[in-house]
Amino acid sequence: MANILVIGSMNMDIVSQVQCLPVPGETIQGLGTGFHAGGKGANQACAASRSGAKVTMAGGLGTDAFGTELHRKLQDEGIDTGAVAIKPETTGIALITTDAWGENSIILSPGANYSYSAEDLKTLDFTRFDVILLQNEIAETVNEAVLEKAEAAGVPVVMNPAPVSGFKRAWLSRSKLLILNEIEAEALSGVRITDFSEAQTAGRSLLAVGISQVIITLGSKGSLYMDTDGRLIETPAYPVQAVDTTAAGDTFIGALAASYYGGMGLKDSLHYASAAAALTVSGAGAQSSIPVKEQVNAFLGRMGSSTD
Ligand code: RIB
Repeated sequence: MANILVIGSMNMDIVSQVQCLPVPGETIQGLGTGFHAGGKGANQACAASRSGAKVTMAGGLGTDAFGTELHRKLQDEGIDTGAVAIKPETTGIALITTDAWGENSIILSPGANYSYSAEDLKTLDFTRFDVILLQNEIAETVNEAVLEKAEAAGVPVVMNPAPVSGFKRAWLSRSKLLILNEIEAEALSGVRITDFSEAQTAGRSLLAVGISQVIITLGSKGSLYMDTDGRLIETPAYPVQAVDTTAAGDTFIGALAASYYGGMGLKDSLHYASAAAALTVSGAGAQSSIPVKEQVNAFLGRMGSSTD
């Protein structure tokens, strides 16, 4: 079983369904609104835990009711919240609008996520973990401190440069495995990506920066894995009816980390993560739609591919 530390964001997602996303200045009628536990860090932690990993979450929550609820939900998942710091301010909030095609737009107010500091990390012993999952929804100084401390402890970092805005290119070479979507890969490589061949060009340019492994997810097309040993694996996405794409990428990352660092082979881990992400896309909300291992394996069985 993989022992995973996730250092990242925890948000309350306030999700409104609409027929079409509004254009600037437009007021439209919503079809319904729900409150869902989210945040890239917490979503990845939840996905890894539901895929059988032992998970510890580190990050900042506020003193408000959302903070209390998100804390309790993580504990209900069996996630160790000993490294979650409670900060005297509001919990991170994501205002998400989802249209009839499952596409979304997100406004993120980081709140307590940005108050979690490098100082808060000091008591955390990184050597206890097989791998650390990191994103870009917490303070820059924390990500830098994590990369430094992980290097010193010899623990690999899986980096998800999301959101890509404000992401430091210097962090790339300090990560072992980079997992990013095509938009993030375009922003970091400068290569426009519309298919697997362009994704390969982008992947090569990212590997040249000094990362050992890179996975570019391409939505409904699947994912591309490349490494510095010359391995290249294209994994197709499983076709599903998209309800809400929120947290699909987070699910892929958490599920991949749980399976790969838990001892599953690379190809099987990529199929497993792809199936987990497909199931997330078929349900509404972030953590509310992340599947457990048994659901992923049953889905893979139905699709005629098994990783057991
Ligand atoms: O990746 C999806 C997540 O991004 C949402 O849960 C939201 O909280 C934003 O952080």
